[in-house]
Amino acid sequence: MKKASMILDRDFRIGQIDPRIYGSFIEHLGRAVYGGIYEPDHPTADENGFRRDVIDMVRRLDVPVVRYPGGNFVSGFNWEDSIGPRDQRPARLDLAWFTTETNEVGLHEFVDWCKKANTQPMYAVNLGTRGIDAARNIVEYANHPSGSYWSDLRIRNGAKDPLGIKLWCLGNEMDGPWQMGAKTAYEYGHVANEAAKVMKWVDPTIELVACGSSGSGMPTFGDWEYQMLTECYDNVDYVSLHRYYDNYSNNTPDFLARSMDLDEFIKTVVAICDSVGGKKHSKKKLNLSFDEWNVWYHSKEQDNEVWKQGKWNRALPLLEDIYNFEDALLVGSMLITFLRNADRVKIACLAQLVNVIAPIMTRNGGGVWAQTTYWPMMHASKYGRGEALRPIVNSPAYDCKDYTGVPYLDATATLADDGSVTIFAVNRDLAEGVELSADLRAFGQLKVEEHIVLHHDDMKAINTEANPDNVAPVTLHDGEMDNGKLTIVCPSASWNVIRLVPVK
Ligand code: AHR
Repeated sequence: MKKASMILDRDFRIGQIDPRIYGSFIEHLGRAVYGGIYEPDHPTADENGFRRDVIDMVRRLDVPVVRYPGGNFVSGFNWEDSIGPRDQRPARLDLAWFTTETNEVGLHEFVDWCKKANTQPMYAVNLGTRGIDAARNIVEYANHPSGSYWSDLRIRNGAKDPLGIKLWCLGNEMDGPWQMGAKTAYEYGHVANEAAKVMKWVDPTIELVACGSSGSGMPTFGDWEYQMLTECYDNVDYVSLHRYYDNYSNNTPDFLARSMDLDEFIKTVVAICDSVGGKKHSKKKLNLSFDEWNVWYHSKEQDNEVWKQGKWNRALPLLEDIYNFEDALLVGSMLITFLRNADRVKIACLAQLVNVIAPIMTRNGGGVWAQTTYWPMMHASKYGRGEALRPIVNSPAYDCKDYTGVPYLDATATLADDGSVTIFAVNRDLAEGVELSADLRAFGQLKVEEHIVLHHDDMKAINTEANPDNVAPVTLHDGEMDNGKLTIVCPSASWNVIRLVPVK
C-alpha cells in the first residue's frame, strides 16, 4: 500500500475560512426555479409555492449565500419585471437560454425563500443590456429604509423592512461573446466602476464583486483582469472567477488532476490583483469570489435536443447533468483547493444548486434526491469551518497529460473553534488505498470521532430517484492514535473526512 504523511501545527495557518466559500447559485435557467425550488402544485409546497422537501435538502447543505438571478440570464433581465403583483408581471423571452421567463418568482419571493433555506442572497445586477441607473435603483429598492421612490415602492409591495442584500455582483461574464451586452475590458471596467460608485453611495455597507474572465481558457484571460481592475479596483471588493471541468476524454486520472489547474488559476488571479494594487500604490487587498465552479459536460448534447423540441417554452429541462462518482471526487478536490487558498478565496458558489448542474435533483410532482456531488459539498460546508491549516503533505505522485507530480493523496485540514481538527482528503489512486500518517502532536490529546468515506467501485456510478443512496457516504470508526500520531487508510478512489476531537 502507498504511504503519505502530513504534519500539522496550530501555528501553521492559512487563515480564517469565510463560510461563504460554501455558497451556491440559483439562476432563472431550466428547472432551477420552476420545478426546482418553486412548484406550487407539489405535495410539499408551502403557502408560497416553495417545495419544502428541497428547502430541507438545501438546509442540510448549509449554504451561507446563494447567487441569483443569473448567470447569463441576468444580462438581459429587467429587475423591475420581478416585483409587484404577480399577475401583472410580464412574460419575456430570455435570450440567454431561449426560454420564456414568466417572473412568477421574483426578488421578494427569492429573498423569502432564502430566509426559509437559511441562506443570504448574493444578487447580480444587469450590466449587459442595462447599466448604472438600473443598478443604483435596485439597491435603493432593496436596501434603503424608506422615503424615496424605490424604497416606498418596496414597502407598498409588502416589505416594510429593507431586504438587506449585502453582496452584489456587477454583471456576469461580461468578457464572453455569448453574453448580452458583452464588453471590452476597458468598457466593462469603466461601467463597473461607475455602477459600484453609485451603488455604494446608496448603501455604503454593501460589498461588490467585479467580473473576472468567464474562464482561464479565454484568450483575454489575464489582460481582462488587469485592464478592468485598473478601472474599478478602488470601488470593488472582490474579483470573480468561473471554472467548469469536463471529462470528455474519459481519462479519470487526468480528470481528477484538474484541481491543480484550479489552484494555478487562483494563484494567477491573486498575482494580477496584487500587481494592479501595487501599481496603484494601494493598501487594499482584493479578494476572490469563485462565483461559479463545478463539473459541467454531461448534459451538453442533450440540451440541443431540448431546444429543438421546445425553444421558448417555460422551464425547459436544461443543463441537467447527472453526476457520477468520479465527479464527486473532483468536487471534493476543488473544495480542498478553496480551503488551501482560504486567505484570498472568500466566496465560492457551487453552480448551481437545484436541477441545473446541481447537487440536488427533483422530479416535477415527484421526489428530491442527492446527486453524488452533494456529499463532499455537504461535508466541507458542515465540518470545514474555522481556520484553514497549512499542512505539510508528502504523498506519492503520478504524471498525467497536463500535469506531472499529481499527489495521489490530495489533502488539507481545518481547525474549529472547539479545538477539533478535520482532515479532508481525496485518494486519487484508483487501484489501492493510501495509508496516511498525520502528526497532530501540537493539538493536545485528540481522538478519531469518525472517518466519513465516499467510495464506489464504479467511477461512473450515479444516484437516481429510484436508487438515491447508490453513492452515499459511510462512517467508519478506524484509524489509530498513538501519542498524537494518527495512522489511517484512505481507500482507493475515495473522499475522506477524518474528524478528530479533543479528549475531554
Ligand atoms: O451556470 C451556467 C452558466 O455558466 C451561467 O449562466 C454562466 O454565467 C456560465 O457560463
